[in-house]
Amino acid sequence: MITPILLCGGSGTRLWPLSRKSYPKQFAKLMSDESLFQASARRLSGPGFSAPVVLTGDPFRFIVTEQLAAVEMGPQGILIEPEGRNTAPAILAAALWLAEQDPEALMLVAPSDHVIPEAERFRAAVQAAAPRALAGDLVTFGITPTRPETGYGYLELAAGADTAAEAPQSLARFVEKPDAERAAEMLAAGNFLWNAGIFLFTAKTLISAYGAHAPALLTAVEAALAGATADLGFTRLAPEAWAGAEDISIDYAIMEKADNLAVMPYGHAWSDLGGWDAVWMESPQDETGNACSQHATAIDCSGTLLRSETEGQEVVGIGLEDMMVVAMSDAVLVAPKAEAQRVKEAVSALKAKG
Ligand code: GDD
Ligand code: MG
Repeated sequence: MITPILLCGGSGTRLWPLSRKSYPKQFAKLMSDESLFQASARRLSGPGFSAPVVLTGDPFRFIVTEQLAAVEMGPQGILIEPEGRNTAPAILAAALWLAEQDPEALMLVAPSDHVIPEAERFRAAVQAAAPRALAGDLVTFGITPTRPETGYGYLELAAGADTAAEAPQSLARFVEKPDAERAAEMLAAGNFLWNAGIFLFTAKTLISAYGAHAPALLTAVEAALAGATADLGFTRLAPEAWAGAEDISIDYAIMEKADNLAVMPYGHAWSDLGGWDAVWMESPQDETGNACSQHATAIDCSGTLLRSETEGQEVVGIGLEDMMVVAMSDAVLVAPKAEAQRVKEAVSALKAKG
């Protein structure tokens, strides 16, 4: 059995105004009638998967239980992080929690805000990677790179490994978020895949990796779990010990340092919805490339994303080219799609205004 560990923490600012601090994008019905979180939970369910463990913050605990109940799922556990300290402490807390029952437990760590449309194929890839994880490797999932992206981790395959294989391959190196020059070199080299940010390992393997590469983090998170309190079925990690855990991602804390790495290539559709341009790309489009939500109408537009996020509010675009318009009841974003990565500036600008 594989336990899905769903990361439900971060509040992305690049999908403002839909994604808010109080209601992060994974809970929004961004791509369909179900939220990204619900789709992620369902994608990792069925034969071979046990109920998920969810890692989240206190403000979101009831959204998590309600959204799981709405798709007829129940969690195996919900761990509440007193504050977001990035993925390295969060994932370790889940591993220690699972190891209390079974140190050999296989855990599939997945963000809850990615789009992976072919769920069946993805589950098959996870199952195909399982023997490698059971043998003691930290298995990553690798996506074929298409541009010199600096926001991703890069996986360098070992000599003789195949980037298109349908079986786990050995990894020479993990490089998190390279600069533009290194990213271009790795894209050209041809023996690199993008890290999808999805990992498979046993609880025991992961805990020993922290013991070897991040012992202080292991001590802090062990203390946070030892001091945890149970509250209505939620496990609240102890705030003081948690505050002593380093704020760092698993990519930097463990993956860049470990040498027992493997990759399962995944050559099918995957998106981390890193901006409204990615949402446009993943959404159904009309014949001139417009992606319109239910209450949005495009007249003589092309390549445009038009979304009304408020019940009863109509949005109409006329003569727009390659634009993005996202209308909420209290905030509206209008910008060229090429500026999609600058949307986080809106959040900073509004914060500065107070
Ligand atoms: N529970 C919890 N707590 N979840 C968190 C926390 C936290 O403190 N911090 C981040 N997350 C969640 C985010 O919501 C997201 O779903 C996932 O963990 C990854 O965090 P990001 O902050 O989005 O990481 P990234 O996009 O910069 O980089 C990672 O993902 C890329 C692919 O999308 C890395 O793993 C890269 O190597 C990878 O290429
Ligand atoms: Mg991300």
